[in-house]
Amino acid sequence: MHMKIKKKIALWLLCCCAFGQAAAQDREDISLNDKQSFISHLLEQMTLDEKIGQLHQCSGRGNFTGPDTLHLPLEEYVRQGKVGTMLNIIGIKEIRKYQSLALQSRLHIPLIFGLDIIHGYRTGFPIPLAEAASFDLAMMEEAARCNALEGAADGQNWTFAPMVDISWDARWGRVMEGAGEDPYLGSKVAEARVKGLQGEQLGDTCSMMACVKHFAGYGAPMSGKDYNSVDMSMGQFANFYMPPYQAAVEAGAATVMSAFNDFQSIPCTSNRFLLTELLRERWGFKGIVVSDYSSVEELINHRVAENRKDAAAQAFQAGLDIEMVSQCYLRHLKELVQEGKVKEEVIDQAVGRILEKKYELGLFHDPYRFCNEARSNRIINSSRIRNSSLRMAERSVVLLKNERQTLPFSDMIRTVALIGSLGKSQFDMAGAWAGSVDRSKIVTLYDALIQRGIKVIYQEGYDIRSGKISSLNASLQAAQQADAVIVCLGERAEQSGESKSKANLNLPEGQQLLVEELAKTGKPIVSLLMCGRPLIFNEVRRHSPAILCTWWLGSEAGNAICNVLWGKYNPSGKLPMTFPANMGQVPIFYQYKSTGRPTRPHVHYCTSYIDSSTEPAYPFGFGLSFTSFRYGKPEIIPSDHPDHAHAFLRINISNTGSRDGEEVVQLYVQDKVARITRPVKELKGFQKVFLKAGESKTVTFPITDETLGYYDNDMHFTVEKGEFIFMTGGSSHDTQEVTYFHPFSKI
Ligand code: BGC
Repeated sequence: MHMKIKKKIALWLLCCCAFGQAAAQDREDISLNDKQSFISHLLEQMTLDEKIGQLHQCSGRGNFTGPDTLHLPLEEYVRQGKVGTMLNIIGIKEIRKYQSLALQSRLHIPLIFGLDIIHGYRTGFPIPLAEAASFDLAMMEEAARCNALEGAADGQNWTFAPMVDISWDARWGRVMEGAGEDPYLGSKVAEARVKGLQGEQLGDTCSMMACVKHFAGYGAPMSGKDYNSVDMSMGQFANFYMPPYQAAVEAGAATVMSAFNDFQSIPCTSNRFLLTELLRERWGFKGIVVSDYSSVEELINHRVAENRKDAAAQAFQAGLDIEMVSQCYLRHLKELVQEGKVKEEVIDQAVGRILEKKYELGLFHDPYRFCNEARSNRIINSSRIRNSSLRMAERSVVLLKNERQTLPFSDMIRTVALIGSLGKSQFDMAGAWAGSVDRSKIVTLYDALIQRGIKVIYQEGYDIRSGKISSLNASLQAAQQADAVIVCLGERAEQSGESKSKANLNLPEGQQLLVEELAKTGKPIVSLLMCGRPLIFNEVRRHSPAILCTWWLGSEAGNAICNVLWGKYNPSGKLPMTFPANMGQVPIFYQYKSTGRPTRPHVHYCTSYIDSSTEPAYPFGFGLSFTSFRYGKPEIIPSDHPDHAHAFLRINISNTGSRDGEEVVQLYVQDKVARITRPVKELKGFQKVFLKAGESKTVTFPITDETLGYYDNDMHFTVEKGEFIFMTGGSSHDTQEVTYFHPFSKI
C-alpha cells in the first residue's frame, strides 16, 4: 500500500482510539483514501437515527439570533450522535469540548462548527455594504480571506456568509450585510467573497466553507419589514435578485441557506422550485442546503404546515438538508420514513453531502486540525489582518460633498473639535453583526486623532439615544477653539442589522440642527455619517461643506478616517445604494424600468410625485475624490474574436486634478427596444483605475451576451437584436452615451 494512504488510515484509527472508544468494536475500519467509498461505507454503517442526527444543527449557548436553546441537553445530544453541525460555539477550548463529545458517539463522526463571521472574526472589517462601496473586488476578496484566516485559526469551519440579498429598500435593516441594490455589482462581490472565504480548497486550515444566503429574495420584504412576505414576478426575480446567488454558487460556495420569507407564496424553507429545481437541477449545486434559524418550525407560523411533522416533511421534500436549531427533523423524520412519506435513500443523499464536506474539510483525518492555539495566536489580530482591515476601511469611505476644498485637511489643522459620541465608541465602530469581534481592539476616531498628536476637544453634542442636542454651547465653544470641526452623525450599531427595520430613515433633528449651528461658527466642518444603511440628512447636506459617509468601518475605523481626512488616502468609494431625499421615495433604486409615462420635468401625467422630486439625494455609483476626472467620448470597437466578445467599448479617462487618485469607471446599458419592459439603465461593468495626477488611461469593456441579455418571464436567457445605448461615467447619473447595434438575437 502507498505510504501516504497507510499513514492516513493509521491517523484515522489513532484519532478514534484517542477518544476513548474502540473504533473497531462499533464501526468497521474504513480507508480514508477514497472520498466516495469512505462516505458510502460510513453511510452503510449508520442507523437511521444517526443519519437524522447529521441533519440536525444545534446552537451553542449565547450569541443567539433566534429563540434560545438553554433548555437543551446539548452535551448529551452530541455524545449520542444527534447533532451533525453546530453554530455559535466560540473559541478553541469550547470547540475541542464539543468535538471530543462527538467523537464519543458510536461512529465517532466529527462535528462541523459554523458561525456568522459577517465582517470579521476577531478583527473587525467594514460592514459588507461599506466594503461594496469600494468597488474593489480584490480588496473584498482579501477581506473575506482575512475573516476566514482568523475564524479557521480559532476552530471555525463554516461561516454563514456572504449575504448576497439585493435590496432597494433602506428601511430593511439587513442592507448593511449585503452589497446593496445592484445585481451586477452584487454578483461580482458575491464571487469575490466566496473565493476569499474558501481560498484554494476547503481542506486548507486557513479556509472556511461559505454559505450563500438567504435564498431567495430575502432583501425584498414588503414594506421593508424584516421577515415579511416577498412577492415578485419570475422575470423580476431572475433579472434583479437571482444573479448574485447564482454567481456565488458558480464560484463554488459549499453551502446555501434558505431564507425566512416566502417566494411566490411558498416559504423558501419548503420551496422545491428554489432548493431543488433551480439550485440543484439548473445550477448543478452539489453542496449542503441549511435552513435559517428555526425556519423549518416557522413553516407552522407561515400556516403552510399543520405541525412539526408536516413542517419536517415539507422542508425535507423540498431539498433542505440541515435544519438549523428547531427539531422537526430530529423528532419526526424517522416516523416519516417509516410511514413511507420520506425515502431513506433521499436521507442518504443529504447525509452524504454533509459527510462529504466533513471529509473535504479534513475532519475525518484530524477532527482537531482547526484547533491550534499557536496558529490562532499567530494569526488573530496579526499585522497582515490589521493592515488589510485598514486598507479595506479606507477604500469603503465615500466622499459625498466637498465644498470650498474643506478636505483634505492641511497639516496646519492641529486642534479639532470632535463632536458626537459615535466618534469615541468602540462598540459602534464595529457595527452590527460583529458578535465575535474584539471590540477592545477597535481604534476609534478619537483614539486615532490622539495617536497622531492632534489636540482633540471632545463634546458629546447630542444624545445618541434620544437624538436631541445635549450640549450646544459647549460644542460651539469647542468649535471656536479648534482649527476644524468633525461631527460624527448617524446610527448606533444596534440600529441596523437583523430585525432592525425602520419606518423613518431621517437623521434625528437634533443631529442635523447641531450641524446647522456649528456651521455658523465659520470653521471648516466635516460631517461623518456612521451608519449601516442609506439615511436622509437634507439639513446636513445644506449646511455642512464636507460630508463623508464612513459607515461602520471596523477595527481600524479611526485610522482609516484620519488617513482620508488628512489626504493620506484619497477617497475612492462609490455608493452601492441610492440615498433617498425623503421617505416617500423609498424604496428607491437607479435601475427602475421604463414606463408608458416616464418621469419628465414639469409634465403632469407622468411617473412622479406631486409633492417631491423623484431625484435621490445621492445616486447609485456616486462618490467624489480629492482630485477630478475627465471622461472622453466612449467608442465602440469591433471585435476580432466574436466568440469572446461581440465588440468592445473603449473610453479614455484623465486625472485632471493635482492629486493621484482612483476612479470607478462604470458602464451602464439600456436595451432600446425589447420584448419585455427593461430598466432605463443597468450596470454591466466597472473598473477601478488608479491615475497619477495628470495621467490618462484607456479603459476597455467587452460587450458580451451577459452585457446585453436578460431573462424573460419563463426564465430563458435572451439576447435581442437591435440598438443598445451604452453609458459610461463616474456615477449612474453622470454618463456619456454611445449606441451599439447588435446584429443577431439569441433566444
Ligand atoms: C439569520 C442568519 C444567520 C442565522 C444564524 C438568522 O437569524 O437570519 O443570517 O446566519 O441566524 O445565526
